[in-house]
Amino acid sequence: MHDDIKKISVSEQEIKEIVKRLGTSISKDFAGKKPLFIGLLKGCIPFMSDLLKYVDIECTMEYMKVSSYDGTKSTGCVKVDGKTPDVLGREVILIDDILDTGRTLDSVKKLLFEAGAKSVTICVLLDKPEGRVVDITPAYVGGLVPNEFVVGYGLDYNEIYRNLPYIGVLKEEVYKK
Ligand code: IMP
Ligand code: MG
Repeated sequence: MHDDIKKISVSEQEIKEIVKRLGTSISKDFAGKKPLFIGLLKGCIPFMSDLLKYVDIECTMEYMKVSSYDGTKSTGCVKVDGKTPDVLGREVILIDDILDTGRTLDSVKKLLFEAGAKSVTICVLLDKPEGRVVDITPAYVGGLVPNEFVVGYGLDYNEIYRNLPYIGVLKEEVYKK
């Protein structure tokens, strides 16, 4: 385990089971619908690529670059970088690493509906329900985590730790220096 990690929240093995379960459910629920997967960069990268290995229906994928965090705090202001993908008439499955306040996915969901998406379904690897400030419920959730700052498997602290193969709680002394 990395020295900056206090404890492992979701092990590599648990992540494998989660992505398999979610990919299989999505394939069943979206059979015949040709959904468009949109991943929110950069946190979605390991999760989305592993998830799609278990999606066995016709689908396409796009990415959007979105940010709202400064260190371990949500700034409350969601920034979308670049063009919105063409979603006109599409059934979109929005992929993110973690749902916390809900502001990011809520803003992106609204944007996609404004751009003509037929439906927007949310799929997150992790949910931190205690952090919620906007009313948003994901259709697919890998696992629940308490209100602690976690990193790894795409999740970062100031861009670091995304490459850890597991998800762990960051030691407070790392960000409270
Ligand atoms: P929300 O807009 O507050 O729901 O935050 C969602 C985004 O905040 C995620 O896509 C992450 O980038 C980031 N985030 C929220 N909680 C954590 C965490 O515990 N670790 C790392 N990033 C987090
Ligand atoms: Mg993110």
